[in-house]
Amino acid sequence: MCYAIPGKIILIDGKFVTLEYFGEKRKARNEFYDIAIGEYVYAQGGFIVQKIEESEALPLLEIWKEVFVVLKERDLRLVSEPKTLYQTANAKRQQVLGNSCCVHGIIEFSNYCVNDCLYCGIRKSNSKVKRYRMSIEEILAATKDAVSRLGFKAIVFQSGECPYYTDEMLIDLVKSARALGILVTMSVGERSIESYKKMYDSGARSVLIRFETSNKKVFGKIKPESDFDKRINLIKALRDMGYLVMTGFLIGLPGQTEQDTMEDIKLTGELQTEMFSFGPFLPHPETPLKAEKSPSLEMCLNTIARARIMFPESKIVVTTAIETLEKNNGAKAGLMAGANSLMVNITPEKYRCCYEIYPERACNDVKVEDRIKYVINLLNSLGRAPTDIGI
Ligand code: 5AD
Repeated sequence: MCYAIPGKIILIDGKFVTLEYFGEKRKARNEFYDIAIGEYVYAQGGFIVQKIEESEALPLLEIWKEVFVVLKERDLRLVSEPKTLYQTANAKRQQVLGNSCCVHGIIEFSNYCVNDCLYCGIRKSNSKVKRYRMSIEEILAATKDAVSRLGFKAIVFQSGECPYYTDEMLIDLVKSARALGILVTMSVGERSIESYKKMYDSGARSVLIRFETSNKKVFGKIKPESDFDKRINLIKALRDMGYLVMTGFLIGLPGQTEQDTMEDIKLTGELQTEMFSFGPFLPHPETPLKAEKSPSLEMCLNTIARARIMFPESKIVVTTAIETLEKNNGAKAGLMAGANSLMVNITPEKYRCCYEIYPERACNDVKVEDRIKYVINLLNSLGRAPTDIGI
């Protein structure tokens, strides 16, 4: 299965390129390749991430062409006359972004963390969690497998805040991962601007870093060692550096109100986010917030729908936390409430269960091949194409 459709280059204007997909035109930035009009490329998040030979592209396009039409029609049929909040949001998604739905892989490469966030199961004070650190070679082996065998074109590298990984190690990771022709997203928490600049210069083009809550009082309580303004300033600096920013928040933290969640949506959008990433707070038994409650699925779906209506052009991911809240139906419900992206956890199985930021994570024990089948079937049934074809 392939998570991108080859696009044909029809115009080059410096770094900006126009690509064509079955008559539709999309824009993408080219920062990595020598290209010429008529050549074929893959784009992810608006960046050209891989060149592909015409002889390879044409048969793929032939397959996609038919699938594309069928999926589009199915999506159109499923969007009814909008009456409810979710239907309105879903119609907005279709109108603005069509049926493309990006599927990112995520590798959680270490659960060591220097922080002690009150909500998080891998906080440093939790002595019960089995800690692990993957070597760069191990991370790259998992990446290569995800790219060559499973077809991923966008991978998120996530860890707790773990200074064991020096800038040099992360640069090594970014360079080698980028060389595989993927969009590299780093999710390694608060590191210095210089450190992020080096990763950018090595080929990373996207970061995932949530601000967790826009309510400063709540932030101070749940992230006692962090500073809200510093975190927001880092996010803005990364955006200004040229990174695509994926950010967001937790829903239903103790002390948070529904109004706060509206403010969270607003702030996520105002940060000129590429992708909204938010999910329910799920209490972990080995944290100080163990006795608190998680929010309802409805609250999460309302948040997706409101985010879609307020910021129609953004990508909105149905996070694993949302899927955990409602294991049977969370992904589908999220996609039908305005979301257009999913994550597939490609962390090697032996480590996956240790990345326990919250308990009983969805898909922890599901084989990646089965998860992919599930995602493809779900997207297929909803008329969504598992592709990211630029902007
Ligand atoms: N419930 C839900 N999400 C959590 N995260 C951390 N702990 C929890 C929890 N108990 C989220 C945070 C963090 C991301 C990696 O995981 O929002 O940014």
